[in-house]
Amino acid sequence: MKSVLVKPLRILIWVLVSGYVHCQRTGVVNIGAVYTHNSVIGRVAKVAIETAVADVNGDPSILKDTQLKLIMEDVDCNVFMGAVKAFEVLEKEVVAIIGPLSSSVAHMISMIANSFQVPLLSFAATDSSLTSLQFPFFLRTTQTDSYQMAAMAELIYYYGWQNIIAIFVDNDYGRNGISVLEEELGKRMSKISHKVALPVQFNLSSVADLLNKSKLVGSCVYVVHANPNSGLTIFSVAQHLQMMTSNYVWLATDWLSTTLDSLSLVNGTLLHILQGVVGLRQHTPESSHKNAFLSRWKEFQKRGLVRSELITYGLNAYDSVWAVARSVDEFLNEYGNVTFSHKKMGNLPQEMYKTFDGGIFLLEK
Ligand SMILES: *[C@@H]1O[C@H](CO)[C@@H](O)[C@H](O)[C@H]1NC(C)=O
Ligand SMILES: *[C@@H]1O[C@H](CO)[C@@H](O)[C@H](O)[C@H]1NC(C)=O
Ligand SMILES: *[C@@H]1O[C@H](CO)[C@@H](O)[C@H](O)[C@H]1NC(C)=O
Ligand SMILES: *[C@@H]1O[C@H](CO)[C@@H](O)[C@H](O)[C@H]1NC(C)=O
Repeated sequence: MKSVLVKPLRILIWVLVSGYVHCQRTGVVNIGAVYTHNSVIGRVAKVAIETAVADVNGDPSILKDTQLKLIMEDVDCNVFMGAVKAFEVLEKEVVAIIGPLSSSVAHMISMIANSFQVPLLSFAATDSSLTSLQFPFFLRTTQTDSYQMAAMAELIYYYGWQNIIAIFVDNDYGRNGISVLEEELGKRMSKISHKVALPVQFNLSSVADLLNKSKLVGSCVYVVHANPNSGLTIFSVAQHLQMMTSNYVWLATDWLSTTLDSLSLVNGTLLHILQGVVGLRQHTPESSHKNAFLSRWKEFQKRGLVRSELITYGLNAYDSVWAVARSVDEFLNEYGNVTFSHKKMGNLPQEMYKTFDGGIFLLEK
């Protein structure tokens, strides 16, 4: 009697479920990585991320019957292309995305990640406004700029410096970083006297022009909040304008240490120009894990896999993959399965994209 009733019910459920749910084999779980490969941080991150995926897949204590498959896309710092690449990765049914480097691109991809309910882990987007409730699926595996801006303000306060000029790239990262600095200086009864916003794609002549104008203010303290890829130009121009002298104080946020730390050989001319600049660097505690990874990195360099030195953001990138792997492991232990299905997303046609069903639960993990 019982079985007669149960069987049709089972078939009915099977029909309902298979009608719109696509089951992915638990054998492989895809994760996406979207960032700028040809950049100071990207060159290091690429090797770190690939190594981490290989390490996870070779470690029997995590994700036993499951392989992580990495789907990597290269974006330049263009917000539109960032969105296009994010969609391309999401089309391939990923459960999480690692990246991007740029805070502007991170704002865009966060919105997409929210719609798809896929966690986005950025190891290099430091703009503190990304922490807001607006981006619930954005997770940061590095420090926000608020930490270094508080340190910068404290340094300025300690020496009683005035006439603070902020030089920054005019995008989310630059503007929001400087606005945190302003807040922090305000708490210490100090302020920024003048702001120099540089276009994202600045050239020598535009920097020279802006710096030369700022010279009229007299002796001052410059805080440079630029990008690792182009920031050094600012100091070359300043030297040319005879501003790298004892009449000026030059402070730099962590982009400078990131750039210098990544170079295996620092050119003497460059070192001479930078003489006297004070910069901040992210601190990572010493550990046997870190030392072991550093030794492996030296091996990679010998084998020609990478030229850059290992920088903090490389450690963050490596750890981000492990964070995803551990969460997926816990997720599978609890829910047993990774599935994707068609859901209604805003005005997009429902059949266009499949989305991850367990996004919220993976995010919690
Ligand atoms: C430099 O940039 C400025 C403004 O961004 C532009 O007007 C100028 O043509 C550029 N100069 C060169 C040599 O590219
Ligand atoms: C800098 O500005 C001064 C005027 O304030 C001008 O005489 C000088 O030629 C400028 N130098 C450069 C390199 O633009
Ligand atoms: C050293 O750096 C300076 C400034 O960045 C550059 O102009 C010069 O070409 C570099 N020299 C070498 C040998 O790389
Ligand atoms: C995965 O979930 C689907 C339904 O959601 C189920 O049919 C399938 O048996 C599950 N696979 C495993 C390995 O748990």
